[in-house]
Amino acid sequence: MHFLAAAAALATAQATHIGFNYGGTFTDGSAKQQTDFVAEFSRAKSLQGTRGEFTSARLYTMIQAGTADTPISAIPAAIDTQTTLLLGLWASAGKDNFNNEVIALTSAIDQYGLAFTSLIVGISIGSEDLYRTSPTGVINLSGAGAEPMELVSYIKQVRSAIAGTAASGALIGHVDTWTAWVNGTNDPVISACDWLGMDAYPYFQNTIANGINVGNATFFEAYDNTVGASQGKAVWVTETGWPVSGPQENQAVASMQNAETYWKETGCALFGKMNTWWYVLQDAAPTTPNPSFGVIGADLNGTPLYDLTCSNVAVTSASSTAASSSATSSAVTSASSATMPASASGANTESLSDAVPGHSQTSPVSASLSPSQTYQTTPITIAACSSSICSSTSITALSTTTAAAPSGSTCPASISGEYQYPHLIVPVSSANPDKAYGTQYSATISPDVSSVFNFDLPASYAGETCSLVFLFPEQAALKHSAFTFNGQGGISANQLMSPATEATTYNSMPAAAVQGIGKVDSVSPGNSYVVASSECGAGARQSFELTSTGGLNLAYFQDWNPTPIGAFITVC
Ligand SMILES: *[C@@H]1O[C@H](CO)[C@@H](O)[C@H](O)[C@H]1NC(C)=O
Ligand SMILES: *[C@@H]1O[C@H](CO)[C@@H](O)[C@H](O)[C@H]1NC(C)=O
Ligand SMILES: *[C@@H]1O[C@H](CO)[C@@H](O)[C@H](O)[C@H]1NC(C)=O
Repeated sequence: MHFLAAAAALATAQATHIGFNYGGTFTDGSAKQQTDFVAEFSRAKSLQGTRGEFTSARLYTMIQAGTADTPISAIPAAIDTQTTLLLGLWASAGKDNFNNEVIALTSAIDQYGLAFTSLIVGISIGSEDLYRTSPTGVINLSGAGAEPMELVSYIKQVRSAIAGTAASGALIGHVDTWTAWVNGTNDPVISACDWLGMDAYPYFQNTIANGINVGNATFFEAYDNTVGASQGKAVWVTETGWPVSGPQENQAVASMQNAETYWKETGCALFGKMNTWWYVLQDAAPTTPNPSFGVIGADLNGTPLYDLTCSNVAVTSASSTAASSSATSSAVTSASSATMPASASGANTESLSDAVPGHSQTSPVSASLSPSQTYQTTPITIAACSSSICSSTSITALSTTTAAAPSGSTCPASISGEYQYPHLIVPVSSANPDKAYGTQYSATISPDVSSVFNFDLPASYAGETCSLVFLFPEQAALKHSAFTFNGQGGISANQLMSPATEATTYNSMPAAAVQGIGKVDSVSPGNSYVVASSECGAGARQSFELTSTGGLNLAYFQDWNPTPIGAFITVC
């Protein structure tokens, strides 16, 4: 046996894998055969608008549909078409079924050898099993799941099953919704994994403002929260997408136009940058599900339902507004080109594609936040902005709260009630006054650096009181976040005339509408503060700068997940 050579031949040595998810059956339940998988994997590489970079396939099961434990015919199809594989073993149907998944895996290794194992990017033990046992999964009748320790035991079983085979050294992980990854009860699964696969669908997050305008920001919030919980393990994007048709979920409208926007904003930011398996190449054969996520329709050889090129990325994003659109545009353009694969340098278009018949074993699962975990993606703020989203000129400063101390009633300094999470956090530095740091999930407040927070306040807050609160728990209370603090000083807040963008620098930061709208002279861990309060500026995007006073030097990962830390807006 040549273990080392075999391990070195795994596809994991390659840079970045891009592809689609592939189920084992068509929508009528009939099994896909090798010729079907060959057709799908080939179509994925030939999609109009792409350059043949969709060369990886994520599978949900090792077992050929309709058999007990025969290896899935996607494997010889992948060998024929040189498609790399993120393998999956179904883990929610009990121990006996899982044993059959392992038999199919080891049989395939024996049967196909290195031709197969050299294509393996990773092996997922289960798919959304933790989501299905969560309250949201149960409410959604999502089917049987698996408990964390059950998955840990399956992971160990597969590690020993592949030890000493041509697949030894394959990276073992698990795929779940991002909401499962940030649930601390599931940490033992993270510890047992080499990598985490994250499924996230802003479309399904119907307990928050989830229109396409915040789709990209919502996805990356989920991604960053997963990274924050990952214990340093790699995070791969195993499912995301936006439906071309289907019901409206809160503000999320299923349409080809929105699917294209999501592809261009989120897909194009991912492709070539991190391992990504899009949902989905084709889910409408022979019948169209509701909602439907397919990049192509019922005809595998039909043209894609929307434009898949990755140039000309739409300028509008959740965190940019009409204000300074030219600056935003150039920032987006450079970010987009930075994500191009090296092999694409010089080309201005990048597209993806892949076509595959629908899969029936799983459908995309809601990544909805449970009610107790709600964090909003809607605008918030303390200021008065009477109509929809404030433009830079329509934001008016709080007229009454100009003093340091909050006046009038204040909301509790906690997010136990209705609250808003910042949708953009940009640091600005007086030491690097022309540098745009872009949006961050961590905030820094130091003598040189302040952080600007954008909040979007829903129109439903009209007439209510809003408070800008700052939550600063003890380090020991934080599960997924962390901070560094020099133990001195306080914070002061300015309300800005217009929202910040990802292109905002110290020099280009909008002027303060209210300098010193609130302050806390001394902050220390284990405390929560109401920094400022006022009538909510309902239906408006509002921007606040938090600056250091008294030498404070604080950096923290903004997190809503218990225990919450950072700047929020509460309403009461
Ligand atoms: C957290 O995970 C555990 C174990 O998977 C699950 O039982 C529980 O319901 C989850 N909690 C939430 C709020 O999803
Ligand atoms: C989507 O968000 C990511 C992460 O913040 C960013 O890199 C990308 O440029 C965004 N896309 C657009 C079009 O704004
Ligand atoms: C899942 O349940 C949540 C909470 O009730 C709900 O908001 C969401 O719409 C459901 N998702 C799906 C896909 O049905």
